[in-house]
Amino acid sequence: MLTHYSTEEVGRLAPDALGDALERGEIVHFPRCPIELPDEADLKFLREDLATHLRNKNVSYHPETDSVPGLKKSDPVRTERAQRILKQHARRVEAFLTRTMPTLTRDWIIGTSSFRPIQEKGRNLSAHASNELVHIDAGAYGPTHGDRVLRFFVNVNPAEDRVWATRGTFPQLYERFGRAARITPDTRKRASLERGALDQLRTGFLRTLASAGLPQAMLIDSSPYDRTMRQFHNYMKDEPAFRDDTSSEVEIRFAPFSAWMVLTDMVSHASLSGQYALVNTFLLRLASCRLPQFAPYRILSAA
Ligand SMILES: [Fe+2]
Repeated sequence: MLTHYSTEEVGRLAPDALGDALERGEIVHFPRCPIELPDEADLKFLREDLATHLRNKNVSYHPETDSVPGLKKSDPVRTERAQRILKQHARRVEAFLTRTMPTLTRDWIIGTSSFRPIQEKGRNLSAHASNELVHIDAGAYGPTHGDRVLRFFVNVNPAEDRVWATRGTFPQLYERFGRAARITPDTRKRASLERGALDQLRTGFLRTLASAGLPQAMLIDSSPYDRTMRQFHNYMKDEPAFRDDTSSEVEIRFAPFSAWMVLTDMVSHASLSGQYALVNTFLLRLASCRLPQFAPYRILSAA
């Protein structure tokens, strides 16, 4: 489940080896982050200065607008510094991923480059929003229609591990809990994952809004696949029989300045504790997968 790669090993890997590992449901772990990180002064700024101004939020660089929304306009020096750091980090992560995973990154959508300032333990969020409960991710930037969600993490806390829990991969969980969660073709509302007439109407309407200057409209779009994944996500967080049974749970500790990446629609995960992480999100095309037989879309489609 957790596969370790030293920096030297990464340099010797065959093209697509890391991508294949992700598609098989492995958490790809780098005991030492394989890319250059922001320097210590910039990390200190994120941890000590920026974090105190944003107690309840992530800070995210959005490439589509080349901006970091949510920071006070009245504080341009702090905003520009945060933007520079997160944008530069995004470039480094992107360069590493396109070099090591040329097939899986083909036609990808580059998402946000975020800093998470909050201590994950005891955030007291609602169950559906809580990172402390094991779940798989459903959706990213609106519906995915079966595309894959990749997240690249770096623990930039100089002293504290970031601690995760997992209970296995989507195929394993589907096998055990798919019927109870009513997401198998014979138990869910609609067997087909093809988008119906209503879905197409809604998407068309939202596209019109988006092209009229409201790009956020696409975030509320949906698809049968994304609704099914959302149902499984909610089942995992709501259903006591699943939520409270930790017998299959494995704890993983990510040391300071280690990095890891994972398909979060594939590998169940919870953030139990830890503070200060850099997190970069990407949407990978199902059509670019080399092992699509392991993808949730294919598994959910099989009768
Ligand atoms: Fe998640």
